Amino acid sequence: MPETLTPVEYERQDNQESRFGDHAEILELMNHGEPRILGRIEDIVPLVNAHSNVVELAELSKHQPIVGERVNKAELVFFNDPKQQIFGVFKPFDGENEEIRGFIGYQNFYTHEHAAYLVSQHFGFDLVPPTTVRIINGRVGALQLFMLPDEFQTGENLASVSDDEWENLKNSDDMMKLHLFDYILANPDRAQENYLVKYNKNSGLSLDEGNQPQIIAIDHGVAFSQHYYNNTENFKGPYFHLTVADQQSKKSTPTLTPIPEQLLDKIDQGQKRKDELTAKLAAINPDIAEHDLDALWDRISDLVKYGHFIDRNNRVAIHDKLA
Ligand SMILES: Nc1ncnc2c1ncn2[C@@H]1O[C@H](COP(=O)(O)OP(=O)(O)OP(=O)(O)O)[C@@H](O)[C@H]1O
Ligand SMILES: [Mg+2]
Repeated sequence: MPETLTPVEYERQDNQESRFGDHAEILELMNHGEPRILGRIEDIVPLVNAHSNVVELAELSKHQPIVGERVNKAELVFFNDPKQQIFGVFKPFDGENEEIRGFIGYQNFYTHEHAAYLVSQHFGFDLVPPTTVRIINGRVGALQLFMLPDEFQTGENLASVSDDEWENLKNSDDMMKLHLFDYILANPDRAQENYLVKYNKNSGLSLDEGNQPQIIAIDHGVAFSQHYYNNTENFKGPYFHLTVADQQSKKSTPTLTPIPEQLLDKIDQGQKRKDELTAKLAAINPDIAEHDLDALWDRISDLVKYGHFIDRNNRVAIHDKLA
């Protein structure tokens, strides 16, 4: 494998291996197709609970579904094209919670959704469904490919999986990728309803050829603020076992877990291609402060330097032990 892929090789590899299909085709349809708004997501889709930004800390264990108060608006959109029919999730600016926006100091959430997709693609994580920004019926917002509930369920809806399956999920490649992604993004909001797992109500957890479960990351409206990430009590995530022992008691003991070679390589490659991501982000002009972008690259550089999973639980211990 070459040390660094050319931009064309990189894009091609990215597209071919994607679990979402052809990103370019999907984005073309989402950007230019005729959208039909079907209604609020929880009114239409079974098992999409009333949702909330404000939920309890999510640990990776068997939970009852969390039914919170609705905070932001998400609507289901349908694109009917002769070549492909797809559903999208539209999160309009006018449906964003102003109080939370003001609290974090953000102008909007929807540009963070778009930026998070670009970051996922840049590092070859393939975690976030194709996402764009679109104006629909005069309202601007984030538009993302909707993953059908027959195939994908949020973390809160996995009650029937066995203990062994939970262990597999917890130690899966995708769970590790999700952790790295959230650390890179400074995302404090990986609650159970903000990731999807390939799972069917009747057939259960679905594994790929390598016996791996598949995880998909959604909802990145509050990501990218290092200040919010470091200071909010609202710090969630199903993967704390990678950075702390004894997560249940919340009296965490920092732990050091090495990042698998293959994942470290993705981060290293992404760091080497910093200019490309910088240009892509500049082109969409997201609501991300310059110092937050600098901090993002500092976090990436620490991951490459230390080669271990980091989050705010073990960051000091990592610096002390490995510096
Ligand atoms: N791309 C997607 N594919 C499938 N389901 C999705 C997708 N995006 C969102 N959903 C479903 O809609 C719910 C709400 O979306 P999201 O988490 O992005 O909104 P939110 O900002 O958290 O809004 P609220 O704060 O009101 O919950 C998700 O928990 C999930 O059930
Ligand atoms: Mg959410």
